[in-house]
Amino acid sequence: MYPYQRNRRVRNSKAIRNLIRETHLSVDDLMMPVFVMEGEGLKEEIPSMPGYYRYSLDELEKEIQTAADLGINAVNVYVKVPEELKDNAGTEALNPNGLMQRAIKRIKEVTPEMLVFTDVALDPYSSYGHDGVVEDGEIINDKTVDILAQISLSHAEAGADFIAPSDMMDGRILAIRELLEENNFKHVGIMSYTAKYASSFYGPFRDALDSAPGFGDKKTYQMDFANTNEALKEADMDMLEGADILMVKPGLPYLDVLYRLKEYTRMPMAVYQVSGEYAMLKAAAEKGWLDHDSCMMESMMSYKRAGADIINTYFAKDVARILKGL
Ligand code: PBG
Repeated sequence: MYPYQRNRRVRNSKAIRNLIRETHLSVDDLMMPVFVMEGEGLKEEIPSMPGYYRYSLDELEKEIQTAADLGINAVNVYVKVPEELKDNAGTEALNPNGLMQRAIKRIKEVTPEMLVFTDVALDPYSSYGHDGVVEDGEIINDKTVDILAQISLSHAEAGADFIAPSDMMDGRILAIRELLEENNFKHVGIMSYTAKYASSFYGPFRDALDSAPGFGDKKTYQMDFANTNEALKEADMDMLEGADILMVKPGLPYLDVLYRLKEYTRMPMAVYQVSGEYAMLKAAAEKGWLDHDSCMMESMMSYKRAGADIINTYFAKDVARILKGL
């Protein structure tokens, strides 16, 4: 009790603060999302994500090399699909020579050690911008799941290390796992978007991939942001179905969900610091209202404190630079 317990004694110097620190962040915790597009020599800035770009495959090589040089071990690949290749069933996603499949091969050629996670979802390929097949204005679950499993197999064949389904259809982890096992891709893992909420923080990402839903919203498949028990139910299913890593998305507004899922499952947990979170900090920093780097590092530590093992973040390179003292 006061004055014998003075909490400030362990805050008095950097050295003592370092000694008693509970949570640590390293470059090993980072995963970098990359946006890929067709073309050559292209590096296009996404207007709502200042400092973040879409790359053609040749430019992507340099970006991946830079990430590897900074010690980043994992990337998460997203593709921007030309409008004329989109249809309701996302047929182009199965093209063995499609943009995603070529991107996977390219990354593995340049940096064989880099772990490649791939986004599996219909929306970048869908003429409706939805994560599933649309019939009479509805998103059809089981048909979509069959396609998602086929897409996953195609990514595995191209050399993906982990499949990362971001769609929120029911039963997709099992379908993907079974198809991978049947085809002898036993070593290919699944990072499930376990608790992905129907969030407005995805706006800038949809600009980046031109994937905004053409009608309605995603509330019949993505989770209601008022709920957390449902996230535990999703986690139960994902674990039984064979997921290796669980993800919560978005990040900062959902730290309670992250914490609960880590406590409940003890599984490797990933968090996705989404495009809207990135955009908010960039905008405030541009205005001089917030300090970019310190707020960024504080958010990283918050994810770790809440239970994240992996942070999928658009700040990955910036964070890695700071950790390296560059
Ligand atoms: C879609 C997908 C989305 C994001 C990742 N995968 C958007 C959506 O669900 O509409 C958002 C990521 C971000 O905002 O950074 N499958």
